[in-house]
Amino acid sequence: MALKYTHPLSFLIITMMISFVACYGNLEEDPLSLYVDDSPYIDDGGTFNNKDLIKQRTDVLSFDKVGGTSPSRKPISVNEYGAKGDGRTDDTQAFKKAWQAACSSRGAILLVPKKKYLLKPIRFSGPCKSRITIQISGTLVASDNPSDYNKDPAHWLRFDNIEKLSVNGGGTIDGNGNIWWQNSCKKNKKLPCKDAPTALTFYKCNNLNVEDLTVRDGQQIQLQFQDSKNVKASGLTVTAPEDSPNTDGIHVTNTRNIKISSSLIATGDDCISIVSGTKNLQATDITCGPGHGISIGSLGAGKSKEFVSGIVVNGAKLSGTTNGLRIKTWQGGSGSASNIKFQNIEMDNVTKPIIIDQNYCDQNEPCKKQESAVRVRNVLYQNIKGTSASDVAVEFDCAENYPCQGIVLQNIDLQSEGGEAAKASCNNVKLSYRGDVSPRCN
Ligand SMILES: *[C@@H]1O[C@H](CO)[C@@H](O)[C@H](O)[C@H]1NC(C)=O
Repeated sequence: MALKYTHPLSFLIITMMISFVACYGNLEEDPLSLYVDDSPYIDDGGTFNNKDLIKQRTDVLSFDKVGGTSPSRKPISVNEYGAKGDGRTDDTQAFKKAWQAACSSRGAILLVPKKKYLLKPIRFSGPCKSRITIQISGTLVASDNPSDYNKDPAHWLRFDNIEKLSVNGGGTIDGNGNIWWQNSCKKNKKLPCKDAPTALTFYKCNNLNVEDLTVRDGQQIQLQFQDSKNVKASGLTVTAPEDSPNTDGIHVTNTRNIKISSSLIATGDDCISIVSGTKNLQATDITCGPGHGISIGSLGAGKSKEFVSGIVVNGAKLSGTTNGLRIKTWQGGSGSASNIKFQNIEMDNVTKPIIIDQNYCDQNEPCKKQESAVRVRNVLYQNIKGTSASDVAVEFDCAENYPCQGIVLQNIDLQSEGGEAAKASCNNVKLSYRGDVSPRCN
């Protein structure tokens, strides 16, 4: 591949032009079109091109205009429907009634005032009469009586089938997860392994805008986007203790055109986990740690066929995480993880800063060797700097029968935290280097 503009000044001018377009125009050029990798593109049912990203942004931007609050919209407070907000009284019924009222009125704003509301699981279902905004200033705290979750053990707050939903307001969603963590088989090996509820789920929500919220101490996953399209998530603070099991920060499954930005995530599991069916995801200005880092996968569990494509993580800082940028697949699966860019990432004492693990096995029994594998191809790692807590800073452990293809390392500078030279461990990978890359495979 030819880098057309190598003179530093021309690069600076181009960068300035691009930033100008980015700030003042809706059509932001992908700055990396200059660096598009030339590895063979194999169609896997996933596509990835700049047009899709531009389309995604215009979708999101045009939605912004309708998602805001305007004086003509009628505010409905949960307090009007009997919510006490004392942190002890069960306010579930009041929230359900207030939701019904808001959902069936035109252009409603549902207000959650600055109080603490105790809630059992709730499903906020659409379709609603028109666009709807939920403004959360207070705190929603989850019941921690497991029997309250018998009807749907997988969810606490769930938004279903809603078009043009905005959730914002600076408030807090508190999953109150301690009891679930204590009863996890990862904490207590004698207990059976059972899933705990996801704190906040958006399911089949298109043109969704979630911003300026704290989600904390979720029972298991903190925040999940599932089967949704055109999603914008920004200004989120997502936290759970470092030792809380399976508390992924933001979990994205089967969702298309999603932009996650300006968010801080510190949990006991993946910072962002991107799983099957997800296409066109951008994450920018993300701060992670502690936790397990940014993950694509796991994919291919139980011999499943799964696809993820069009992922861009541009601008992230990871501190003290057990992995940095990870792609993880189980043996025996099929499908692919493809067209992935990790750019402008800072690592601070991350145990495995760059890792592709095609022998992922998160179960008690060892995983058997299998012929088939999820294909991993076209992955760009660009401008990645910082320190590794282990001496292996780059690890590609790819499938024997299906080597990772089109892997590009460009401008990588990873050092071991202890000061020794960091190493790369590489198996079954087709790799190329651009610019200064350290460490390199042998
Ligand atoms: C780096 O990470 C390791 C392992 O997580 C930890 O033991 C060590 O204290 C960390 N060092 C610093 C300087 O934070």
